[in-house]
Amino acid sequence: MRAGPLLLLGALLGGAAAGGSGRPLPHRTLLDPDGGYWLSWGPRGGRLAFRLEVRTAGYVGFGFSPTGAMAAADIVVGGVAHGRPYLQDYFTNANRELKKDTQQDYHLEYAMENSTHTVIEFTRELHTCDVNDRTLTESTVRVIWAYHHEDVGEGGPKYHGSNRGTRSLRLLNPEKTNVLSAATPYFDLVNQDVPIPTKGTTYWCQMFKIPVFQEKHHVIKVEPVIQRGHESLVHHILLYQCSSSFNDSVLDYGHECYHPNMPDAFLTCETVMFAWAIGGEGFSFPPHVGLSLGTPLDPHYVLLEVHYDNPTYKEGLIDNSGLRIFHTTEIRKYDAGAIEAGLWVSLFHTIPPGMPEFRSEGHCTLECLQEALEAEKPSGIHVFAVLLHAHLAGRGIRLRHFRKGEEMRLLAYDDDFDFNFQEFQYLKEEQTILPGDNLITECRYNTKDRGRMTWGGLSTRNEMCLSYLLYYPRINLTRCASIPDIMEQLQFIGVKEIYRPVTTWPFIIKSPKQYRNLSFMDAMNKFKWTKKEGLSFNKLVLSLPVNVRCSKTDNAEWSIQGMTALPPDIERPYKAEPLVCGTSRSSSLRRNVSLKLLVGLTALGSMPSSWHWWS
Ligand SMILES: *[C@@H]1O[C@H](CO)[C@@H](O)[C@H](O)[C@H]1NC(C)=O
Ligand SMILES: *[C@@H]1O[C@H](CO)[C@@H](O)[C@H](O)[C@H]1NC(C)=O
Ligand SMILES: *[C@@H]1O[C@H](CO)[C@@H](O)[C@H](O)[C@H]1NC(C)=O
Ligand SMILES: *[C@@H]1O[C@H](CO)[C@@H](O)[C@H](O)[C@H]1NC(C)=O
Ligand SMILES: *[C@@H]1O[C@H](CO)[C@@H](O)[C@H](O)[C@H]1NC(C)=O
Repeated sequence: MRAGPLLLLGALLGGAAAGGSGRPLPHRTLLDPDGGYWLSWGPRGGRLAFRLEVRTAGYVGFGFSPTGAMAAADIVVGGVAHGRPYLQDYFTNANRELKKDTQQDYHLEYAMENSTHTVIEFTRELHTCDVNDRTLTESTVRVIWAYHHEDVGEGGPKYHGSNRGTRSLRLLNPEKTNVLSAATPYFDLVNQDVPIPTKGTTYWCQMFKIPVFQEKHHVIKVEPVIQRGHESLVHHILLYQCSSSFNDSVLDYGHECYHPNMPDAFLTCETVMFAWAIGGEGFSFPPHVGLSLGTPLDPHYVLLEVHYDNPTYKEGLIDNSGLRIFHTTEIRKYDAGAIEAGLWVSLFHTIPPGMPEFRSEGHCTLECLQEALEAEKPSGIHVFAVLLHAHLAGRGIRLRHFRKGEEMRLLAYDDDFDFNFQEFQYLKEEQTILPGDNLITECRYNTKDRGRMTWGGLSTRNEMCLSYLLYYPRINLTRCASIPDIMEQLQFIGVKEIYRPVTTWPFIIKSPKQYRNLSFMDAMNKFKWTKKEGLSFNKLVLSLPVNVRCSKTDNAEWSIQGMTALPPDIERPYKAEPLVCGTSRSSSLRRNVSLKLLVGLTALGSMPSSWHWWS
């Protein structure tokens, strides 16, 4: 009987009410491997709304943590006890002690409990300005989750035991509602009966031939195809474009990636065409853009790299997961292209050991973009998605964009990079790159736990600093990168002379004596790196001239390739504008009060009577 007035109150007080009432949140993912904890989220009236649907009649916990562990986390706990919903804002200190937050920043919008499940829905600001809450940005966040079969009692939440976990997600991804017709044709690139090794981490590589089409097709969507039951085993998938000059013998077998016995052909597959990670979604091309297949310029061979995560060393697992490629002959207006921008992958990318923070920069130089765009598309190209890529020491990556020395809006950033969560980020608005612009991929690494140098390279213990840009219309520019000067790097550690001509790789030092006859890698490792030396080295490296890499497809080059350029004189590192309480600088979320109330009120009529409301 009291339901009516209470519902109304809920709508007015809680902001956007009616959350559980069928207004779907755009993003949804399963957090636990057993199908008991679903998370949905999305923007709502300038805030972010979350819905937890959990198989328990006790409490449900959710939060954000710097590392995925319990320490220094921002936590919210809620449930329904004796027919009354509750929701409380907590935080943990560095010792993982749970404390109630004096400033309560989570607003309960909806709660329900039946005999098997608890559903709670709440909103919060992106930036609460409470030191005990974490700010939500476009960067990757480590969400943590837990539940218990009992509700929170007088003494606070009881320890959740093993009903807990963590997951990396990006919460501010724009919504992409690209519904394909059920008749859209597709082909699959899936592994066949891969025996998963009994070790924690396996990267499995398999080359595929793209089906031969008689006419031009456009790929319009790529979706993961995960073998049932392997939802937590298949951790991420990358699809690379390979050189076209192979015969089909390379297709015959899959192999562990980055392995000495891996076929050489795999090394030609470098440009990332698609990336998916657990918790991520499929990728749809914008309505006016498609990835061309079926013409001589298009990819013929691709490499599928699947990361299997087997932390409990389960034996006998056989996997058949991969990707589904939807395509159409209804050709869209533009062909999509992909550019790799950043630091050329090589041993000249050097990172000293023991550094809590070391920055590298990869330059897609003004000279390269001038030449390639002038020749092919003087009116510019339009970027619609970016994948930021580093390896295990990577902590943050930003793709900076300059025009005539002025810094434009960041193309993409991730201040909490997680190697195991890589996906193309859609730009909120397409960003145009003009001839003479330049791009800098700025990477931040942590090598505190490493005793030796980290080098640029393919294996996950080596490093990269790359951005992959998806754009249109397609031009003949596949790589726009830079290599830092090595001789000046070696001078920093005191190298005077190397043996010339260079006949061995890595090349050998001639003088001074302490490095004589050592390879440059051994010399770098022999140097006594302190944090102070590391910092001065970092300053030096960022100011060194770079060798310009500016490549076309099939190993062809723009004429600028091989030239030397100076890195632009810019503010380093990138300084973000301060956040404004209640919202995030980078967010496009906006308050829309009239809409909020309207939806809250119109939904009242359809409210099932079993739903409990916060009063
Ligand atoms: C309880 O609610 C959950 C979540 O809405 C639903 O999936 C489940 O079927 C419900 N169970 C019963 C017994 O009604
Ligand atoms: C295909 O490549 C393999 C290995 O590079 C080579 O041994 C073989 O002769 C090639 N076959 C054809 C038909 O070119
Ligand atoms: C790019 O240019 C090279 C050399 O000029 C040419 O061989 C190649 O076919 C071109 N590729 C595309 C996609 O236009
Ligand atoms: C360094 O190598 C050169 C050429 O192999 C050799 O002649 C020389 O004796 C070596 N010097 C030292 C100090 O090992
Ligand atoms: C608020 O929502 C209404 C209804 O959808 C829309 O017409 C209006 O443009 C929105 N206002 C803002 C500021 O977003």
